[in-house]
Amino acid sequence: MLVVSNLHTYYGRIHALKGISLHMKPMEVVALIGGNGAGKSTVLKSISGIVRSASGSITLNGDDITHVSPEKIVMSGVSHVPEGRRIFPRLTVEDNLLLGAFTRKDYSEIKKDMARMQELFPVLAKRRKQYAGNLSGGEQQMLAIARGLMSRPMLLLLDEPTMGLAPVVAKDIYRQIRYLNKERGLGILIVEQNARVALGLADRGYIIETGRIVLEGNASELRQSNEIKRAYLGKDYREVWE
Ligand SMILES: Nc1ncnc2c1ncn2[C@@H]1O[C@H](COP(=O)(O)OP(=O)(O)O)[C@@H](O)[C@H]1O
Ligand SMILES: [Mg+2]
Repeated sequence: MLVVSNLHTYYGRIHALKGISLHMKPMEVVALIGGNGAGKSTVLKSISGIVRSASGSITLNGDDITHVSPEKIVMSGVSHVPEGRRIFPRLTVEDNLLLGAFTRKDYSEIKKDMARMQELFPVLAKRRKQYAGNLSGGEQQMLAIARGLMSRPMLLLLDEPTMGLAPVVAKDIYRQIRYLNKERGLGILIVEQNARVALGLADRGYIIETGRIVLEGNASELRQSNEIKRAYLGKDYREVWE
């Protein structure tokens, strides 16, 4: 479904991605794991067209989307839920959801999808007329994911969806992500600093360090890897699955 090859991305003189290659099959959950500043968000921003890459290519179902506009990339089925949620605090929950459908014109279907999102995340139904800024962190994350789903993606890019959330709330978010993959058939590329949590959810994973993929494999293999245990599992992880 998604093929990223040899991607180089710069911010001015900062060489953020130094030849990133990765791929995803349809309906796969893939984790991109790495520390702060490794380049995880830049990979997602490059795929969704927010950041332009200097070289390399990105294809989606065989179509080259490397130089396609972010809006067209949304229309071709990729939805990016950014780091830090980025909901619109002074708009209502409902209006935030509607904005997720900005590329669509099938108004009666949009209305149905609004209802579906409120079934999927019942807390959003209860709070639909409230300002999004008044929601808790976990509720804002659910809203951000629901807004992302309003474009009817086949591939969801999730940037640290549980950052700053209590373990019990994080667990809830992960349950929803798993549901979206298993029951709705969504492909999910999830960025995490927490390897244990991400590899508990994903089919496969990539480890990124200073703009390069240093390790890749099945989630179960990566969980056994001594390198990963040493670098990512040894310190400060939350036991979300236990
Ligand atoms: N807008 C920006 N301008 C300049 N440098 C940036 C910008 N965004 C990210 N960077 C730099 O690019 C590198 C990768 O950042 P990022 O992709 O955000 O990492 P991660 O998401 O893994 O924490 C870091 O060195 C970061 O400082
Ligand atoms: Mg980031």
